[in-house]
Amino acid sequence: MTIGIIGSGAIGTAFARTLARAGIEATISNSRGPDSLTQLIRESGPSIQAGAREQAARADIVFVAVNWTKLPAALGGLPDWGGRIVIDANNPIEAPLFKPVDLKGRVSSEVFADLVPGARVVKAFNHLRAEVLAGDPRGDGGRRVLFYSGNDSAAKAEVAALIDRIGFVGIDLGVLAIGGKLAQFPGGPLPNQNLVKVG
Ligand SMILES: NC(=O)c1ccc[n+]([C@@H]2O[C@H](COP(=O)([O-])OP(=O)(O)OC[C@H]3O[C@@H](n4cnc5c(N)ncnc54)[C@H](OP(=O)(O)O)[C@@H]3O)[C@@H](O)[C@H]2O)c1
Repeated sequence: MTIGIIGSGAIGTAFARTLARAGIEATISNSRGPDSLTQLIRESGPSIQAGAREQAARADIVFVAVNWTKLPAALGGLPDWGGRIVIDANNPIEAPLFKPVDLKGRVSSEVFADLVPGARVVKAFNHLRAEVLAGDPRGDGGRRVLFYSGNDSAAKAEVAALIDRIGFVGIDLGVLAIGGKLAQFPGGPLPNQNLVKVG
């Protein structure tokens, strides 16, 4: 199983660090190209490599963490998704104004899914602040909780296995229309709930 990351900002970097901690290989990318990622790669260790966006997008699981309005450019012009898994870690709100995007009544992951036709989208890794996500998931007396949702059970099972492998506890919130909404920021009740499962 290969993992690609599109977006090397706060959340893309946090995800890369959690993978690195577990020794899991991944290719991380951004809009500026691999040369801009030298320091991150040096800090992350040998399992994380820098690549072009197109290279990251070829992986079996593609993790996307890009500013909402830049998603069309970040996901445009890529080869067919062909049923591969895409993790949507994005929220429909953006600095510096933090004005919620008008989703016209849809859940943000459903809007996101339109940008990756043919992919199996799993919403995850979006409900915690980046610095919490980057921290040790076993550091607070239990295992930190991550929520995930999606319309494809097999894709969710693969993401759940990854969540478990990197030390978190995953909780399945159901399909995107329900789970995506619960974990969506702004609007859902779960964002920023830093929960730890004890025992
Ligand atoms: N920050 C948080 O605590 C947090 C928490 C939960 C969810 N989120 C969500 O996660 C997503 C990312 O947030 P962030 O805080 O990580 O943002 P960020 O620090 O601003 O990083 C955004 C990343 O997107 C990349 N990017 C922009 N356009 C691109 C393109 N055309 N192709 C490839 N990469 C492109 C940028 O690369 P360049 O710098 O090279 O342009 C940058 O690495 C957002 O949707 C946000 O709502 C953030």
